[in-house]
Amino acid sequence: VPALKVERLRLARFTTLGVGGTSEVWTVHNHAQLAEAMRAPYRVLGGGSNLVVADEGVPERVIRLSGEFAQTDLTRDHALSGEEYVTGWVGGGVPLPGLLRKLQKLGLSNLEGTVGIPAQVGGAVWMNAGTRFGEMFDGLHTLEIVTPQGVRVVSPAELQWGYRQSGIPRGHIVTRVRLKLAPSTPQAVQDVMDQADMARKGQPKMRTPGCAFKNPGGIGAGKLIDDAGLKGYRVGNAMISHEHANFIVNLGGARAEDVQAILDHVRRTLNTPLELEYELWP
Ligand code: FAD
Ligand code: EPU
Repeated sequence: VPALKVERLRLARFTTLGVGGTSEVWTVHNHAQLAEAMRAPYRVLGGGSNLVVADEGVPERVIRLSGEFAQTDLTRDHALSGEEYVTGWVGGGVPLPGLLRKLQKLGLSNLEGTVGIPAQVGGAVWMNAGTRFGEMFDGLHTLEIVTPQGVRVVSPAELQWGYRQSGIPRGHIVTRVRLKLAPSTPQAVQDVMDQADMARKGQPKMRTPGCAFKNPGGIGAGKLIDDAGLKGYRVGNAMISHEHANFIVNLGGARAEDVQAILDHVRRTLNTPLELEYELWP
């Protein structure tokens, strides 16, 4: 097992927004190393695709899952009723796009609706990331969750999950999951992925942390912000995308406080209260 690695690194290189200052990054490869990392205040970093990290960085340890938490075992563990079955363990640190590519090639269904989400499995589960074609909890059977108190194995039925939420408290780490998959065909899985990709055509290809706000009860936050005339609203080098108003893009050298100023402006301008989807660190 590789040794526990502690380095001071700029978090900008780990976030899709490309923003975030220097912090102490703890890369852990197994449970013993993770337990060590969790002995002082910490945060968990996944794919960094939903984070706006301050330019000063964060004072806590930033834990990255690697080693046995980045392994994928898709072998059939046991059958469920119907044709579905449960896989071996898939690590929380596994990049979701690569996992979905494997599932497509094998013709295994239930998670294809999440295509295009640049997360890690653990972060995607923690948020129950999804699209209108499906979400992470569609394909989950068991979750292994680690807290400073120890390791727990739970089923989705024990959690209060819903739209963009798993019910797992912040700081409880999803170290691995067993998937619940339905045998299908590579073509059928690809067809859903193509539809989900099509629905993403209007999203910017620039550096962003995804949608800024959750959709308030059926209405698109993007539509509300667009209707308020805020596309192109800019602070420093951060800007509300001209392509989709629920995306703030980094034009190059943006700072976390620029993004924050745009979020504040949107909230002041709109009459509808909006719930933030991103997470602001610290
Ligand atoms: P991070 O951004 O690294 O972290 C987010 C939160 O998850 C933090 O609180 C972090 O501590 C926590 N976390 C990370 N890993 C773990 C873990 N192993 N255990 C416990 N907590 C953890 N989201 C959607 O839902 N649907 C979309 O269609 C979508 N499209 C996107 C498109 C783009 C281009 C981008 C950049 C983002 C998009 N997102 C979308 C947002 C983002 O991908 C999701 O919110 C995703 O769940 C974030 O996962 P992550 O691994 O990147 O987590
Ligand atoms: N619209 C506008 N102006 C805009 C943006 C959107 O008028 O600037 C309109 C569109 O024309 C469309 C409607 O609003 O009629 C909905 O837009 P879209 O189809 O883009 O979907 P969305 O609700 O904005 C959701 C998710 C995305 C996910 C897409 C595709 C949320 C907050 N957003 O977007 O998820 O990728 O559907 O399934 O739930 C994310 O969560 O980070 C994310 C990107």
